[in-house]
Amino acid sequence: MIDEIINVTDKYINTKSKVERKKIGQFFTSKETAIFMANLSRSHKEKIKILDAGAGTGILSIALLEKLNNIQDIKSIEIDLYENDENIALILEKNMQRVKNSITKLKKIKIIKDNFILHNENTTERIYDIIISNPPYKKIGKNSKEAIAMKDVVYGQPNIYFLFMEMAERVLKDDGEMIFIVPRSWTSGAYFKKFRQKFLDNVKLTNIHLFVSRDKVFSRENVLQETMILRAIKSKETPPKVIITESYSNSDFNKINKYEINYDLCVENNDERYVYLPTNEKDIKVLRTINRFDTKLNDLGLKLKTGLTVDFRNESSLEKKANSNNVPLLSSIHFKNGIIQFPSKLEEPQYIKKDNTSLLQKNMNYLFIKRFSSKEENRRVQPAIFLKNQFNNYDFISTENHINYICTSDNSEIQEDLLYGLYVLYNSTLYDQYYRILNGSTQVNATEVNNIPIPNENEIKKMGKYLRENKDLSSDNCNNILMEVIDNE
Ligand SMILES: C[S@@+](CC[C@H](N)C(=O)[O-])C[C@H]1O[C@@H](n2cnc3c(N)ncnc32)[C@H](O)[C@@H]1O
Repeated sequence: MIDEIINVTDKYINTKSKVERKKIGQFFTSKETAIFMANLSRSHKEKIKILDAGAGTGILSIALLEKLNNIQDIKSIEIDLYENDENIALILEKNMQRVKNSITKLKKIKIIKDNFILHNENTTERIYDIIISNPPYKKIGKNSKEAIAMKDVVYGQPNIYFLFMEMAERVLKDDGEMIFIVPRSWTSGAYFKKFRQKFLDNVKLTNIHLFVSRDKVFSRENVLQETMILRAIKSKETPPKVIITESYSNSDFNKINKYEINYDLCVENNDERYVYLPTNEKDIKVLRTINRFDTKLNDLGLKLKTGLTVDFRNESSLEKKANSNNVPLLSSIHFKNGIIQFPSKLEEPQYIKKDNTSLLQKNMNYLFIKRFSSKEENRRVQPAIFLKNQFNNYDFISTENHINYICTSDNSEIQEDLLYGLYVLYNSTLYDQYYRILNGSTQVNATEVNNIPIPNENEIKKMGKYLRENKDLSSDNCNNILMEVIDNE
């Protein structure tokens, strides 16, 4: 039956351009992924009511129904399917009619050709035992009807996929389960914080599946996305463990790595509610080691900020040669093995006119950290030490928006021992790994870095002093210096 659905889906994909489907967030799940997701279900009640939110051609429902039909305890099944695209809803209707004959326990099918979010906006009913979904993935306006309907979890411009997760959580019965395939982005980042807080208060994660390859999950679709599958249950009680599995792509679920980790290690029990995704013993050790520290940048009067100058918005202010009316514009091209090499030999404008004072910052000691790295680079977190003495002729500088910088909250100077100590941390392999477990993207965000635990001020200064004396800025050396602090703890 699933093979038939896949054929029908492929025919549909050939009739519609990817651009058209992207507009409505329409990407289809592979057969193997659908079966894997269905097999995550643990429900075996006599009567089961299912919801498929954003059902497409029905592949997820069909995989789930085939599984449930074979469970002895289950006697009758009802299913609601939401799909608001007329064209695909017609195919869905036909597919579900076909299924009716082979799934003997299926007693009722309801296809709701409506917007899942708006249809349930005011509902207080919690009626589903299982919710399965590959929700649409697309940014929507913060004034769109869906965003307004769910404003309590929206911050900035939302992506509709997490509104589907939140709405699903609301209509799920107590002890019911939800199984979703979604981007990984919700697990960290400020945009998802309100959602994470509400969602993770009401449901508890039991299983997470990750894919090593970014482009092999929706392979028919050429979608490049950090994707995860999750199973969560509606419960106030926290389970002791979360099962994390990992496969390379969507076609090798038979070769998975499996880890069980303590719930607290996976879901942070604080305001941010980050979800950490370790996939091996080494990752777990990294989390444990760093979580032992209980200082944050803010406790030292420090914070990470994003560079001030967006170059394409300020093209007319950029200049190639130094003159008395401009100041250095520092960017990632000036990072050279942990220090700043300015100017770069590249032919790019590296100065900015002084007249726009909002783009200027005092020439002070900073720790720069690149905001972006390519997938091929072996480090996400790449710091460089910026020393004001290098730029003695300038009272001000500017930073390009593709880098971050650590500064003091009260505009005072960061002493060099502290500065070099921070470099040791962020140039160590341990902190780089920690960041990867926290954030699957190649971007280094301010909120996350500001929340990573660090040693106390004295320890950081001690590491910095040592590095200043020994002058080896390599990651290997930073690892050794940091390990000494950790071993002494
Ligand atoms: C990512 S596709 C997944 C389809 C199918 N579940 C699968 O896994 O292959 C999401 C589906 O949700 C539908 N959709 C988009 N926005 C919707 C909304 N607000 N309400 C209901 N369905 C929606 C799209 O038309 C699309 O078919």
